[in-house]
Amino acid sequence: MNAAAPSSSRTFPDGFRWGVATSSYQVEGAWDEDGKGPSIWDTYAHTPGNVKNDDNADVANDHYHRYVEDVALMKDLNANAYRFSVAWPRIFPEGGGKPNRPGLDFYDRLVDELLGAGIEPFATLYHWDLPQALQDRYGGWQRKETAQAFADYAGYVAEQLGDRVKHYFTINEFASFVEGGYQGLDVQVGGGRTVHLGAAPGLRLSDADLKQVRHHAVLGHGLAVQAIRARGPAGTKVGFAENIRVGVPVLDTPEHVKAAETATRDRNAGFMTVLLEGRYTEEYLASAGGRTPTFTDEELQVIASPLDFVGINVYKPGWYLEPSDEPPGYRDIPVNASHPKMGASWHVLDPEVMYWAPRHMRSIWGAESIFITENGSAASDAVADDGRVYDSDRVMFLRACLAQLQRATAEGVPVHGYFHWSAQDNFEWGDGYGTRFGLVHVDFDTLERTPKLSAEWFRAAARANRVV
Ligand code: NOJ
Repeated sequence: MNAAAPSSSRTFPDGFRWGVATSSYQVEGAWDEDGKGPSIWDTYAHTPGNVKNDDNADVANDHYHRYVEDVALMKDLNANAYRFSVAWPRIFPEGGGKPNRPGLDFYDRLVDELLGAGIEPFATLYHWDLPQALQDRYGGWQRKETAQAFADYAGYVAEQLGDRVKHYFTINEFASFVEGGYQGLDVQVGGGRTVHLGAAPGLRLSDADLKQVRHHAVLGHGLAVQAIRARGPAGTKVGFAENIRVGVPVLDTPEHVKAAETATRDRNAGFMTVLLEGRYTEEYLASAGGRTPTFTDEELQVIASPLDFVGINVYKPGWYLEPSDEPPGYRDIPVNASHPKMGASWHVLDPEVMYWAPRHMRSIWGAESIFITENGSAASDAVADDGRVYDSDRVMFLRACLAQLQRATAEGVPVHGYFHWSAQDNFEWGDGYGTRFGLVHVDFDTLERTPKLSAEWFRAAARANRVV
């Protein structure tokens, strides 16, 4: 008998979604067409000094006009799911009030094109492009009114697209837009200079005020879940897409795994923990002076509204941890200076996060349906003389991450799909166009699309529903 493992041993479960992801501001362009209102990212990127090279996404990938070609490229990748985001200011240019039909028509066309290509649409409702009008009126997520406006918009979209779009993610990466947009980070650079790294709307709130913004963001999610259930057709499914910060155990012992789980729960207290448990931890409530957030029990119940699935964006380890006899029962292990990194400056490489993140979701919070809503890597891609793009590092990253994800599914962790970030190179926020995450290369002068080597890898793996 042949002693080799059977060839099916690295197979994903039947019905596993092989998807790709993008977001409205990062790919659409057409920033002021068909009645769209400005978003906070339009304002922020139009302000010199905020984005590398002063890039903006006025045109971006011009996906708004080239979606037919882009859907064909996804089909060619054997993708069976596409996670895109709806630009709120296309639908409600003023944030609320009267909807702008031509804005919605774009998503109608896109969804029809996807379904015609056998690709299931998964819509994200907030990927950071808040209508500028709500920033002006309420200071954005600093006020509860924005959470309510978000729910009204979310319910409207589910009502309008719900006959064809069955899966919604409310909010993408709470921490990124709250911490980045409402506080930012001062970083030391050469020559004793300090640079402020931020995101739209570019505010610098105190830690205490930031806690209130977090609360309004999770409240917006909960209100949106309720609005989608109330106004979408029966069978509409909803969850969030959060960048869980993942504790990774350094040793494979039950004590180390427990330490990593405890730290993961504690340190996601402002978002994941309250979203799934409906309560803030004592430590979180006491932090930053203990004055904020102000909230009611009823709001906590709304925030933790039951979900159909959870989405997690998984790129890198949050912390390496070991158990400790001192409270809180765990201790951080420093990341070694020589630890390997991927193309983006923040991207510490550890493919095993793709195993630990969904495993923690199940073991800490009992998640029963999980999507990997993002995973990917930036690389210094260029079209070679022979016309191909040899992104060998991204292929390595993909193969290693998907092997770890398969390991999780083989152990029974209920992961139902994977969305690669990104379908194409696009506008990478404060990093502009230099940081490329796509399976498909985009020449931002000509807008020509060229599938990379990683696209070939994805195509083969998606077809076989397995890694080797
Ligand atoms: C997370 C964000 O959701 C997405 O917009 C961003 O481009 C990727 N990570 C890569 O940084």
